[in-house]
Amino acid sequence: MKTILVTGSNGLTGQKITERVLATKDFNLIATSKGENRFPVKEGYIYAEMDILNPANVAEVVAKYKPDAIIHTAAMTNVDTCESQKELARELNVGAVETLIQVCKEFDIQLVHLSTDFIFDGANGPYDELAPACPLSYYGQTKLEAEEAIIAAAGKWAILRTIIVYGIVSDMSRSNIVLWAKGALEKGEPINVVNDQWRMPTLAEDLADCCLLAVVKNAQGVYNASGKDMMSISELVGKVADFWNLDKSLIKEISAETLNQTAKRPVRTGFILDKTIRDLDYQPRSFQEGLAILDEQLKDK
Ligand SMILES: NC(=O)c1ccc[n+]([C@@H]2O[C@H](COP(=O)([O-])OP(=O)(O)OC[C@H]3O[C@@H](n4cnc5c(N)ncnc54)[C@H](OP(=O)(O)O)[C@@H]3O)[C@@H](O)[C@H]2O)c1
Repeated sequence: MKTILVTGSNGLTGQKITERVLATKDFNLIATSKGENRFPVKEGYIYAEMDILNPANVAEVVAKYKPDAIIHTAAMTNVDTCESQKELARELNVGAVETLIQVCKEFDIQLVHLSTDFIFDGANGPYDELAPACPLSYYGQTKLEAEEAIIAAAGKWAILRTIIVYGIVSDMSRSNIVLWAKGALEKGEPINVVNDQWRMPTLAEDLADCCLLAVVKNAQGVYNASGKDMMSISELVGKVADFWNLDKSLIKEISAETLNQTAKRPVRTGFILDKTIRDLDYQPRSFQEGLAILDEQLKDK
């Protein structure tokens, strides 16, 4: 049985990977994050504190467990924070990846790295894996540099690019668009939503599955790993309102220009998923199926 080490295991993708591994028992799991373990189940895997900004800490944990693969989910994921805290964003999104590249080479470990649609400018979406990148934001820039470092290092690696990940886990340090829209509309709060940006939102379970498939199949190369339905952000929020029978009149459609966000966002991203479906047996759910899965989980909580 392969041993995998997950970075950022307290995050949305990290917790979903832990959930999947505990359900399937197909791997030995070393879950790592900064600080206390926030995953509610504490048995069936090992938790180790590991700060990806501390190379000595990373080297020590990896040397101790010698995993077959590292799934790297930890990052500075808030796009606007990356713009206002560039130094830290670079350390987390590029520097930490360089540390992981080193340890993976040393111990012959496969590095499964998560990247983003924000490496593209959004002029030509949906993109395949070979499309030239052109980030508009500092977040996108750092994620692209990390990809370039991994590819140049020529070890065992897979880069999985994803888009707007949604889902629910315990004690989340940040929300996502589906939970945000549902929460606001349930409280009767009016919300402004852009109608001129298009994405393919990704169910966190699908992304977790794709990460594990990349390990099972010894994937090497770049893979698109998003949901399969393209929609504008306002359509996305409209679908959330329809699904939970919420008041759609609270949704005000606006253009991205009027929102004044710190970081620039691409207009139309989205991914062509053919390669990942063919080579990894990736089976993304529809957005409607994703909402139904989330709904069941919310009922259980
Ligand atoms: N979410 C999206 O919509 C999206 C879209 C495209 C690409 N991605 C990429 O997908 C990956 C996973 O995203 P996600 O949404 O699952 O992220 P997330 O929920 O924000 O989780 C990231 C985790 O990393 C942890 N972390 C932060 N600094 C750390 C450090 N120094 N050492 C160890 N752990 C640290 C965070 O800990 P705390 O919880 O304690 O802060 C958090 O739990 C990221 O690489 C992201 O760039 C995400």
